[in-house]
Amino acid sequence: MAAPYNAKISGTGMYVPDKILNNFDLEKIVDTSDEWIRTRTGMFERHIASENEAASDLAYNAAVLALENANLKAKNIDMIIVGSISGDHPFPSTACILQSKFGIKNFPAFDISAGCTGWIYAANIAKQYIENGAAENILVIGVEILSKITNWKDRNTCVLFGDGAGATIISRADYSDISRFIDAEISADGSSYDLLIQEAGGSRMPASRQSVKDNLHTVYMEGNKIFKLAVRSMYSACDTVLKRNHLDAKSIDWLITHQANLRIIESLGKKLHIDENKVIVNIEKYGNTSAATIPIALDEALRNGKIRRGDLVLMASFGAGLTSGSLLIRA
Ligand code: UT7
Repeated sequence: MAAPYNAKISGTGMYVPDKILNNFDLEKIVDTSDEWIRTRTGMFERHIASENEAASDLAYNAAVLALENANLKAKNIDMIIVGSISGDHPFPSTACILQSKFGIKNFPAFDISAGCTGWIYAANIAKQYIENGAAENILVIGVEILSKITNWKDRNTCVLFGDGAGATIISRADYSDISRFIDAEISADGSSYDLLIQEAGGSRMPASRQSVKDNLHTVYMEGNKIFKLAVRSMYSACDTVLKRNHLDAKSIDWLITHQANLRIIESLGKKLHIDENKVIVNIEKYGNTSAATIPIALDEALRNGKIRRGDLVLMASFGAGLTSGSLLIRA
């Protein structure tokens, strides 16, 4: 049965902190090299939040731009969903803090913990609320300040992450509107939850002097095990929505995948038989901003005119959980 309403992305915005850390700066912090980071990941620079900046600050700046872009005011928002694993506090949600920053209230605001797939999960939930008519304009954000939960002595992880926020407004669309969500697929395989984890700070291992000393409040990742699973699960999520909509990969105008590693992005493009010129890549400028990579890449590509209204855009992500998902839209 067709949904009573269509959903579309009516506005986008992004924000990254001013401070930039490049590969040469990292060479002074850990035993690494510009050459290793570039060839293994495709990264060169990443933005790092200041001591005073928290996730809601980055999210707010991105959201203001998204509202402006959608021609809407904060009072038009009727739900806020934030995808993040580095919110302002373990609780309350960053979405509620954001609601207070805008001075609006009395509607649902909540966070999604799906690691780097956070924005795709949040966008899929927003899609349901718009399509069933329960909401008209939902602010959906992917934001991350992983620099504050990074072990700056661990070269396996500290060279990879950057801070940033990508905001989108997901709105009710007219049936005559070419812009719309077509389909989405989200999934998880919890059997490998321990490959990418912040071990301490929750009820399994509350904060203690020892946990801080052992750096257990920082990101732990078994990158090479995740690498293969990332390609496989993003491919599966993309393949599912393409098949379900009787679409060939050739009909895709743009592929935006999670920006975790250039080699992963290229492998997925090849596996899907999508021409490399149709794959959006900005990893060299921002590194892996986790839940923010896709909305940041989407905002950039829309603003610089790469993605045009009506283009068929396939997005896919993968992250802690292990979660994965895809989203297919007409821009
Ligand atoms: O965003 C959430 C999902 N995350 C991902 O999708 C990440 C997926 N994984 C990856 O992107 C890659 O696995 C990494 C970029 C994390 C690592 O690349 P890799 O090619 O898988 O390297 P590796 O972990 O297998 O390590 C290879 C070598 C090791 O040295 P030995 O044992 O061969 O002597 C590491 O110690 O590279 C070494 N190494 C480094 N060398 C210089 C690891 N990190 C560094 C570094 N600089 N920063």
